[in-house]
Amino acid sequence: MQHGSPLSLDAIRNTLATQALGHHIELRDQIDSTNREAVTLAHAGAEHGTVIVAESQTEGRGRLSRQWFSPPGVNLYCSIVIRKPIRHDRLAEWLSWLPLLTALAAAESIELIAAAGVAVKWPNDILLNERKVGGILCESGTGARSEPFQVIGMGLNVNGDRSEFPKDLRETATTIYQETGCHIERHRLLTQFLQELEVCLVECESRGSERIALAYRQRCSTIGKHVKATLTDGKEFVGLAETIEPDGALRVIQRPLPTDGRPPEIQRLRVADIIHLRT
Ligand code: BTN
Repeated sequence: MQHGSPLSLDAIRNTLATQALGHHIELRDQIDSTNREAVTLAHAGAEHGTVIVAESQTEGRGRLSRQWFSPPGVNLYCSIVIRKPIRHDRLAEWLSWLPLLTALAAAESIELIAAAGVAVKWPNDILLNERKVGGILCESGTGARSEPFQVIGMGLNVNGDRSEFPKDLRETATTIYQETGCHIERHRLLTQFLQELEVCLVECESRGSERIALAYRQRCSTIGKHVKATLTDGKEFVGLAETIEPDGALRVIQRPLPTDGRPPEIQRLRVADIIHLRT
């Protein structure tokens, strides 16, 4: 399955241009989950910006308790420890935007390296030609001295072929190679991602989420689509995705409109599984 060179710390360090992210970096051949390892390291005091990268994962974790398909040699699996002294009154905004701004950074880095039009699907799927090419999983915890930390995990399908996916993913998932015909040097994509992520984190920390939200809305292909949302209690809601609210929630207005004259129901979704419906 290997296309291009294996990841190497030297290649990553030689292209890294960040202030903090990735200055401490660990590369594993195989791991259960880079997120699990990053949480363990964060509990043990790992510094802000510590990155764990792996060539493969045996128990890659996805959103909503799903597994993340993590074969060796072709993709990127990485997790980053984030320790930012966010003011208490800004913490909710920070936590809600963290996964969204990470998806934005991933989309921007793919575009810069692979020159492909990349969209985000709310909340944090990365899409190429409406198929999922990557995803983000953020987790939070507190360290030994009760200081909060977050772990950002990102998986990107890079140089593989769609035919190598398990059957249930073949229709909805894709890889950068599949969509562009180009094999990508994964260390370049990783370091570009860390750079874009750092810019977004600094922007959100110093000036709040306003500009991030603007850039996210411009890239978000969910807005304007008819969607089916599966809510956390298992209920389904079908409607038109109108916008992303300032707190990162997806605002969906019921469709079709009720026929009994009642006003359409409006949902502001914080956590949900979304399917884009054809209109
Ligand atoms: C999703 O379901 O869309 C989120 C997928 C996140 C997968 C990445 S791969 C690297 C990191 N380690 C994990 O166990 N999960 C995340």
